[in-house]
Amino acid sequence: MNKQDDKKLWGGRFEKPMEKFTEEFTASVSYDQKLYRYDIIGSIAHCRMLTKQGILHEVERDMIITGLESILHDIEHGDFEFLVSLEDVHMNIEKRLIEKIGPVGGKLHTARSRNDQVALDSRLYARDAVKQIIELVRNLQRALVEQASQHTETIMPGYTHLQTAQPIVLAHHLLAYFEMFDRDAQRFSEIYQRVNVLPLGAGALAGTTFDIDRQYVARELGFDGVSRNSLDTVSDRDAFIEICSAASLVMMHLSRLSEEFILWSSSEFRFLRLSDGYCTGSSIMPQKRNPDVSELVRGKTGRVYGNLISLLTVMKGLPLAYNKDMQEDKEPLFDTIDTVVGSLRIYADMICTAAFNAERMRAVAGLGFSTATDLADYLVRGGLPFRDAHEVVGKMVAHCEKHQIDLPEVDLATMQGFHPSIGEDIYQFITVEKSVQSRRSYGGTAPEQVKVQLEAIRSRPEFA
Ligand code: ARG
Repeated sequence: MNKQDDKKLWGGRFEKPMEKFTEEFTASVSYDQKLYRYDIIGSIAHCRMLTKQGILHEVERDMIITGLESILHDIEHGDFEFLVSLEDVHMNIEKRLIEKIGPVGGKLHTARSRNDQVALDSRLYARDAVKQIIELVRNLQRALVEQASQHTETIMPGYTHLQTAQPIVLAHHLLAYFEMFDRDAQRFSEIYQRVNVLPLGAGALAGTTFDIDRQYVARELGFDGVSRNSLDTVSDRDAFIEICSAASLVMMHLSRLSEEFILWSSSEFRFLRLSDGYCTGSSIMPQKRNPDVSELVRGKTGRVYGNLISLLTVMKGLPLAYNKDMQEDKEPLFDTIDTVVGSLRIYADMICTAAFNAERMRAVAGLGFSTATDLADYLVRGGLPFRDAHEVVGKMVAHCEKHQIDLPEVDLATMQGFHPSIGEDIYQFITVEKSVQSRRSYGGTAPEQVKVQLEAIRSRPEFA
């Protein structure tokens, strides 16, 4: 590298060059080069605005824009070397611009600071990422709806404490996740509105002496608004923290689904067979089929939570306005987005190709006295207070356990010994089918209710 390449754009007041390791330590270019496209798009809009305002000549504008476009081309064709000595993506591009078009390239940074520039680049990046996440969450929801539509009558055990509780239908279980992801998509849509505000024009911290037109830049770049306080603008990272927070919730939901998929694919459960493409074998045990994708998604949840805490911690205690600490926002943000995007993408396909074992689910749905509540409800309809009914059924369950039989196997006389109001019709009420059909309250598991929800979902344009 020759001396010229090495010269810092901010080197004017320095006598000694920066130490090599310090240079590496302070540089962000190894990761912020990811922002190159946004940096260039932002610079082009800024340059157009400067020209419209009479701050740059049209000839200068054309030279700068042509130069920036050719840099974009160079980067995309692997013909651009990012130098650590130039610290970050912004300086690397600006330096190259000056090399390409001469000193006029140095006019691009008029009325701008890297502080509002980095805020702009990150927002442009975050805006695209948020849009992509919403689309991927919608895809995942579509996969859930697809599977749910096949399984409105598929009876399975419902659990609390991972102990059999009451029978439910599989569609109901899958649509529970649909609801979680629906809130996730909503959260990202709300975040989008706060992300989509133009920071450029805040300058280093206090605004600029030039007569700039921020609304114009906002329109050029598709921002819905312009930030109002320059100090806040260059020192705010809330939007990225919100993204990490909403991403943590997405991962938490995916992780719970993963945990269920892992359990359900075990030979003890046998509720689910994940497609071969999402499982791996063991290097020693020939019979193994491991649900690696689910395990990894569950595991990756940890790094996303960690990124959220990193960002919150970086920001706490920072005085206004920009501080170099804030350069540490990028890796956690990028990693979060890459992780959540990858996890959502792979899950949508995995759900579509998963095979649920309806027979097995039905076979175990009645275990664990899963219709005991239905029996208690029957007694209540006969006039018994619920607490007493609970007590009576509790004794019946103990009786069943002692004799190793199931509730529907208790003969009528024995039943009546527990409570005289029990009639012959009781047997209809304690089958798992009847149990499920009877839970008709709004939002309940009865197939007819689940179908109401499915129809409501299908009436939404995203899921038609
Ligand atoms: N690389 C820097 C960052 O990501 C850009 C802003 C630098 N501003 C400064 N005043 N040193 O934060």
